[in-house]
Amino acid sequence: MRGKFITFEGIDGSGKSTQLRLIAGDLRVRGFDVLTTLQPGGTPLGRRLREAFLETEEQVHPMAELLLFAADRAQHVNFLIKPALAEGRIVISDRYADATFAYQGAGRGFDEKTVNQVIKLATDGLKPDLTLFFDIPIEKAILRTNSRADHETVKNRMDSETTEFYTRVREAYLKISKTEPKRFRIIDAGGSIEEVHRKALEIVTVFLNGK
Ligand code: ADP
Ligand code: TYD
Repeated sequence: MRGKFITFEGIDGSGKSTQLRLIAGDLRVRGFDVLTTLQPGGTPLGRRLREAFLETEEQVHPMAELLLFAADRAQHVNFLIKPALAEGRIVISDRYADATFAYQGAGRGFDEKTVNQVIKLATDGLKPDLTLFFDIPIEKAILRTNSRADHETVKNRMDSETTEFYTRVREAYLKISKTEPKRFRIIDAGGSIEEVHRKALEIVTVFLNGK
């Protein structure tokens, strides 16, 4: 049986990576075979791309950025995600195509048609079965990002984006929940790690139980 594909989304500092680790741990304790991964950087090529176009101070053209996220995704889908799903595993990815819709679409200003075409090419139409969107006020996310310990993070170009950029990104994510409410679930991520974890686990549990 094909596995399940779950993605975690949110603006930078929303706490999604913390929650991903916790949920993956819960599922493994329950006996599920879980693969955790991330975009960009879920494959060896993706890690090199990530360093080259994200963890750099070099100016990167928005079109190059759009296509490089897509290149990372195509490699990731074909060599990691699809094979794992074919083996019946649960794949949880820290970000996927909705991030391109939000960051390159609303953030950088590419029109939806272009963004959706690029996403379709990169993913070959593979969509998540469930997406958790960790929603948090921009100011709070910035505080969390700034309070990260140095060992927790490598600086990337997105860290210097403005509040207006992140507001557009957040609104684009919220728009997805309107068109795909069943797949794309919003979690209030403003509370403590334990509170957010409880809500996320509830949604994932109900989903896996097929209710
Ligand atoms: P993201 O992956 O969304 O960028 P992280 O999970 O890396 O976010 O969290 C960013 C920072 O905020 C980390 O230092 C993390 O320990 C901290 N953090 C995560 N969740 C919470 C929370 N609910 N309350 C307070 N701090 C949090
Ligand atoms: P990362 O450190 O993984 O994000 P986070 O701070 O949430 O842990 O950095 C990835 C950055 O790339 C993040 O700012 C979001 C951005 N991004 C896009 O702009 N488009 C995309 O398609 C993806 C996958 C990420």
